[in-house]
Amino acid sequence: MSFTAAVITVSDKGANGERKDESGDALERLLIDVGAVSVARVMVPDERDQISAVLREYCCEKKVDLVITTGGTGLTTRDVTPEATRDVIDREAPGIAEAIRAQSMKITPRAMLSRSVSGVCGESLIINFPGSPKACAESFAVVRPVLGHALELLGGAGGECAR
Ligand code: MTE
Repeated sequence: MSFTAAVITVSDKGANGERKDESGDALERLLIDVGAVSVARVMVPDERDQISAVLREYCCEKKVDLVITTGGTGLTTRDVTPEATRDVIDREAPGIAEAIRAQSMKITPRAMLSRSVSGVCGESLIINFPGSPKACAESFAVVRPVLGHALELLGGAGGECAR
């Protein structure tokens, strides 16, 4: 599998330079491990308009194959990543977020507190992950087995779904 990716870290503290982007670093390594040829990195504060603008830039203009966001999926008033994602996606891919929550619930019941969504914007797949490095590693392990096929389908390669 060979694809382009972007990791968007959504964090007020990160954007202020008060927190190191460990989750973004971990996701970049994981994506390279599974074949990403480039991984763009962006840090944005928890602002709906800024998050959706960056998502549009990477999906509509730069046309990366996969965008993973980390952070801002919880219950506080500052957590708006799911809303910003819904602002840009053409179609939701609910099974991905459902699977992440279901598998993560086996690790911690707190997984149910993530409101993450996933969906398609143009030919790009967007997946929300929670903010902690631990949650990112756990969430990536869930999607890893299907990433290749998902990106193949979006790339219009006519992948076989029945397998
Ligand atoms: N999912 C996994 N796999 N592992 C975790 O540790 N933490 C949860 C949840 N999802 C967690 C997880 C917690 S504590 C919260 S509050 C929510 O994700 C939202 O996190 P966020 O606001 O950083 O996006």
